[in-house]
Amino acid sequence: MWLYLAVLVGLYYLLRWYRERQVVSHLQDKFVFITGCDSGFGNLLARQLDLRGLRVLAACLTEQGAELLRNQTSDRLETVILDVTKTESIAAAAEWVKERVGDRGLWGLVNNAGTFPRHGCTEWLKIKTYMNTLQVNLIGLIEVTLSMLPLVRRARGRIVNVSSILGRIAFFGAGYSCSKYGVEAFSDILRRELQHFGVKISIIEPGYFRTVMTDVQKFSETMKQVWKEVPAHIKESYGQKFFDSYFDDMKQGILNCSTNLNLVTDCMEHALTSVHPRTRYSAGWDSQFFFIPLSYLPTSLADYILTRSWSKPAQVV
Ligand SMILES: NC(=O)c1ccc[n+]([C@@H]2O[C@H](COP(=O)([O-])OP(=O)(O)OC[C@H]3O[C@@H](n4cnc5c(N)ncnc54)[C@H](OP(=O)(O)O)[C@@H]3O)[C@@H](O)[C@H]2O)c1
Repeated sequence: MWLYLAVLVGLYYLLRWYRERQVVSHLQDKFVFITGCDSGFGNLLARQLDLRGLRVLAACLTEQGAELLRNQTSDRLETVILDVTKTESIAAAAEWVKERVGDRGLWGLVNNAGTFPRHGCTEWLKIKTYMNTLQVNLIGLIEVTLSMLPLVRRARGRIVNVSSILGRIAFFGAGYSCSKYGVEAFSDILRRELQHFGVKISIIEPGYFRTVMTDVQKFSETMKQVWKEVPAHIKESYGQKFFDSYFDDMKQGILNCSTNLNLVTDCMEHALTSVHPRTRYSAGWDSQFFFIPLSYLPTSLADYILTRSWSKPAQVV
């Protein structure tokens, strides 16, 4: 019985491997638009796809980031300045893309731009932090998608949305997690609605990776600053001991970040170039073997595992 089961599982993986390695033809004629190419995953993906011969349209937030990227890539790669929080900037970028792709349409849209500006417990963060995070990570992503969708439909292309393990299991950064849960919901609905247009949607769920966003020094400074600004009565309720244990736990996660960003960009590349892209890609060992399995456990058990190293707040009523 176990032997039959092992053979069946083996056959399933063999079939999946064969299906997934089939590559789309004429990649050199395909345009891919990527947001947030100044640094991190977006920057690496732009260089990776350029090397593979695709026509990369890279959107950067700053001219400095765009210039650096152009210096590292071929003449095929073009850049545009895009701030996903500004409607005019998105409209101008959509027009720019339309001029380049013409009747062929846009093969790939990668919604990668993101931010995680302030770190701390839910009650310590100001509403402005929530609004800023949602504006970049969710509203910006939705607006860029709506602006590019006619072009993607024309090409029967792909949309790749960058979520996070924090879009599957929420335990840190309420504003950030809400934005990523929103990305998951938006992508799921879009996939179901667009299936008959031949457009495929993939969601990337990275674990912890070392990028500008997860810079240890920046993280430590912003979290301590957040704590400093917490009103005294709230601070008293949590206490310094709670903050220290919470800070250490979060910092440990950041210190354990993987430096192999290719684990993420290879998933993005597969979603754009495979005939049969996956719906979801868990990128990174922590995502695949810890956080995603954890998300299927009973909630009480997941709660215990995720918070076991935190001290009790000072005033537990
Ligand atoms: N690193 C991780 O562990 C991790 C884990 C899960 C998911 N993610 C997600 O992966 C994506 C890429 O992040 P990353 O880790 O590569 O971090 P990153 O290096 O900070 O890259 C984020 C990019 O987004 C850009 N950006 C920020 N605000 C923007 C705006 N308003 N308009 C346009 N672009 C903007 C940044 O530009 P500037 O550099 O000029 O600010 C940067 O190029 C994000 O969606 C993030 O949430 C990251």
